[in-house]
Amino acid sequence: MGKDVIIACDFAGAEQTFAFLQRFGERRPFVKIGMELFYAAGPAIVPALRERGHRVFLDLKLHDIPNTVKKAMAVLSNLGADMVNLHAAGTVEMMQAAIEGLTRPDGTRPLLIAVTQLTSTGEEQMRRQLLIDRPMEEVVLTYAANARAAGLDGVVCSPLEAGAVHAALGPGFLTVTPGVRFAGGDVGDQRRVTTPEQAAALGADYIVVGRPITAAEDPAAAYERCVREFV
Ligand code: C5P
Repeated sequence: MGKDVIIACDFAGAEQTFAFLQRFGERRPFVKIGMELFYAAGPAIVPALRERGHRVFLDLKLHDIPNTVKKAMAVLSNLGADMVNLHAAGTVEMMQAAIEGLTRPDGTRPLLIAVTQLTSTGEEQMRRQLLIDRPMEEVVLTYAANARAAGLDGVVCSPLEAGAVHAALGPGFLTVTPGVRFAGGDVGDQRRVTTPEQAAALGADYIVVGRPITAAEDPAAAYERCVREFV
């Protein structure tokens, strides 16, 4: 399982996505499809990307009753996704059901990654609205431990948290980390950012990079720079 750069394809439709990916020539980067593009373009975008040679991370963050998640995960697995995710808040039982649903008849399955707490949620909101009265780090690491107990492969987290996750849950438990910017680059709405090089030094396994590549004048060059600095 290699370290890799995943491009967040936050586009409004399939046409734009394919036009963007055409700029990479023979290169076939690992791509992330989020809710917006998946709902706009429909599930067929996944096999279409796979046929072109891309690996696909479906960032759909499932969270429902175990039976529903199991069946939905089976659909995503059959589409040929390489990595999918869910909310660890759905419980260990939901996460175990997700693995069952994902596992194909031949025993293979996409990597399954958990979201612990969304980075848009602060400690104050957690306390007042979710009635979780614990420090953020404890919540994140406990949810990550639940994910590992359920048999998941890793978590989405900040590169700045990758070390703590690996220290608590082992080096083999994957960290998939957004919030990456080139040195001196535009931070945008991200708060705690690292460069690809720093993310590598902190032990991130996969970095998810959107605008530094999608908004670059030469996306292929920006991608290659990312790979050079990270891998
Ligand atoms: O453009 P940028 O590099 O900020 O894109 C990061 C991608 O990672 C986006 O698709 C964003 O939704 C996603 N993401 C994130 N922070 C999280 C989880 C997902 O930025 N905690």
